[in-house]
Amino acid sequence: MASIGLEASDQLEVMRLHVDAALEALVEDEREQGAGQVADLCASMLLAGGKRLRPLLILLAHEIAGGEDIDEVMPLALAFELIHTATLVHDDINDEAALRRGVQTIHTRAGLAKAVIAGDWLFVQGFGLGGRYEENIVRLMAKCCADIAVAEFHQLDHVLNLATSPEDYLSIVRGKTAGPFSAGCHAAGLVAGLDEEQASGLGRFGMELGVAFQLVDDLLDLRGDDRMGKPRGADVIEGKMTLPLIHALTLSHGEERQKLAHIIEHFTDDQFDQLMVLLNRSESLKYAELLVRTHLERAVLELDAFPPSRAKDLMLHITGYVMERHV
Ligand code: IPE
Ligand code: IPE
Ligand code: MG
Ligand code: MG
Ligand code: MG
Repeated sequence: MASIGLEASDQLEVMRLHVDAALEALVEDEREQGAGQVADLCASMLLAGGKRLRPLLILLAHEIAGGEDIDEVMPLALAFELIHTATLVHDDINDEAALRRGVQTIHTRAGLAKAVIAGDWLFVQGFGLGGRYEENIVRLMAKCCADIAVAEFHQLDHVLNLATSPEDYLSIVRGKTAGPFSAGCHAAGLVAGLDEEQASGLGRFGMELGVAFQLVDDLLDLRGDDRMGKPRGADVIEGKMTLPLIHALTLSHGEERQKLAHIIEHFTDDQFDQLMVLLNRSESLKYAELLVRTHLERAVLELDAFPPSRAKDLMLHITGYVMERHV
């Protein structure tokens, strides 16, 4: 790609624009074939400005693995973004979210039935693109999607369960978020011709980065951040047991724990400050930040297996971005 000499962030921006253009072309193609409103609704969310972390990492994992032809991996990168967007459309139905990527969610605009189908459309478009790869790659894609479902069930079954353990949390996060990062990087390595062992290293990089990414998403939900395109505290309202809550519940005792439990169980926005006081008292946000660092360090270690390159620099840049996102 003609981006030598640019800053890392500009190089990533060039790649992001490439991904965006390919997604736009895909939607245009579907419109021409008569996909009508379903394509319009999906395009409104698909092209509303996601960070494109998954496709970027897939392109970079392919490049770090020695892949030279971006066209051989682009369908895989797009497939993961389409599938990711599908999960967001369905996630927002389940989480009753009104805003995503700074725009109204599909179900609030077009109703539940059409939003479910729009999510399905995005899923099958993703598998249509990914299905052209070899069987081991299609298997990786299918497995990570099945794991998302398992993890979402796990999460639903732990709503407002104050005995949820850090292990439960980690298992949910690996399934619902980190798994697709892992499968995407692993598959991209295979596309570039790595053997299974080397490609698994990229998979582990994706898994560690993905866990850190969800930890940060959960921290930002508590801190509130306008750049998120979704309101603060949504997780607590949903009854989702994120790590800072699990940590605070474990550390606090007696009256304080009762107070915390009551806030979590009957949460409304006006209790936000009180919740934050309790979380800070047990240093639970700090604990989650420490874990973010640990997982990112592990991700970086996996890249030691690869010699210095542009792709490695950009993957490290993304790792740094995940770290900085919550400060
Ligand atoms: C949102 O993912 C869902 C989570 C796993 C936290 P992103 O934060 O990557 O969403 P977009 O694609 O940039 O909108
Ligand atoms: C996202 O989890 C995981 C998915 C697989 C969609 P969240 O429910 O935390 O995502 P946000 O915070 O709504 O983006
Ligand atoms: Mg959710
Ligand atoms: Mg959600
Ligand atoms: Mg979230």
